[in-house]
Amino acid sequence: MFAARNAIKLAARSFSTGVPLQSKVAVLGAAGGIGQPLSLLLKANPRVTSLGLYDIANTPGVAADVGHINTLSEVNGYTAKDKDGLKKTLEGAELVVIPAGVPRKPGMTRDDLFNTNASIVRDLTQACAEVCPKAKLLIISNPVNSTVPIATEVFKKAGVYDPKRIFGVTSLDLVRASRFIGDKVGKIADVPVVGGHAGVTIIPLFSQVKGLELSKEERDALTHRVQFGGDEVVKAKDGTGSATLSMAYAGARFADSLLRAGAGEDVLEWAFIRTALFEKEGLDFFSTYVKLDKDGVKEVLPLPESISEYEKELVQKAIPELKKSETKGTSFVASK
Ligand code: NAI
Repeated sequence: MFAARNAIKLAARSFSTGVPLQSKVAVLGAAGGIGQPLSLLLKANPRVTSLGLYDIANTPGVAADVGHINTLSEVNGYTAKDKDGLKKTLEGAELVVIPAGVPRKPGMTRDDLFNTNASIVRDLTQACAEVCPKAKLLIISNPVNSTVPIATEVFKKAGVYDPKRIFGVTSLDLVRASRFIGDKVGKIADVPVVGGHAGVTIIPLFSQVKGLELSKEERDALTHRVQFGGDEVVKAKDGTGSATLSMAYAGARFADSLLRAGAGEDVLEWAFIRTALFEKEGLDFFSTYVKLDKDGVKEVLPLPESISEYEKELVQKAIPELKKSETKGTSFVASK
């Protein structure tokens, strides 16, 4: 019965020729804390017709387990030991989601992960540039403010760069901000979050939420909570990792937005992308509103004119931080 239901949903995605849209999604780092629940959520998504799972180890078990879920997509899992495992994972992928790399421990900033994660992201995106240069890349690995510039430089070096297709996933900041004001507004309302994905570069735009009235103290406390919400999870997990389940949810939501856009829907999202919005300040990457279409970013929208003075100040404070992280990522690839 469930299979039949999915078959109907898949058929609904067909072109008029009756040929169903094929949406292969690859997950790199699929056996990790984020990778496993993310693979589960992607397997449950009827828009996904094939799931390629890759990790340095333990992927066959994850693939076998997730593969028993009765949706129509096929699942294949490869490890670094499999001949051409990464290549097979990436072949034909429409989306590549990358949560590979080490997470934070208490007391660490995201930038402390740079030394380990920079080369992981460089090598994995190098493979993407070779095997699936037209795929959309969704980069979760931290520090996102540097790993997106790294992926960009790798694609440029390979001569296949298109800014429309490389995304830093900041959706967890939006999910958190929305949840944190839930009790205040009595419903789940979207909160735009712009800037970047680390500490003071995370800027929730509470001014844009209709019906939300905050005192100065409430505004400051909520802004701080969104900026440092990840620390709450790192502390509670007490040395065993950072957000995995809420990140998987947020990552799956963003992947679904891109798949819907790929199927012809108009979708508005927020993501860390290459943009000319702060060109004058010498900044190339910023998380902002994007309209998505089948090719990725259709249009980058400016920040709303109605953002508050407080939010404008936060943007100004974030710019030097973002620039530092961007340069660190860009120079890392240039120096190799
Ligand atoms: P984890 O350690 O549980 O999983 C990471 C996985 O990556 C492991 O299974 C590991 O074997 C794999 N891996 C390492 N090197 C690899 C390579 N070269 N190729 C393929 N796989 C490789 O870590 P977790 O908790 O899943 O976090 C992953 C990353 O996501 C971290 O960098 C973390 O900081 C980041 N993160 C990002 C968030 C965001 O909002 N963008 C939120 C939470 C975490």
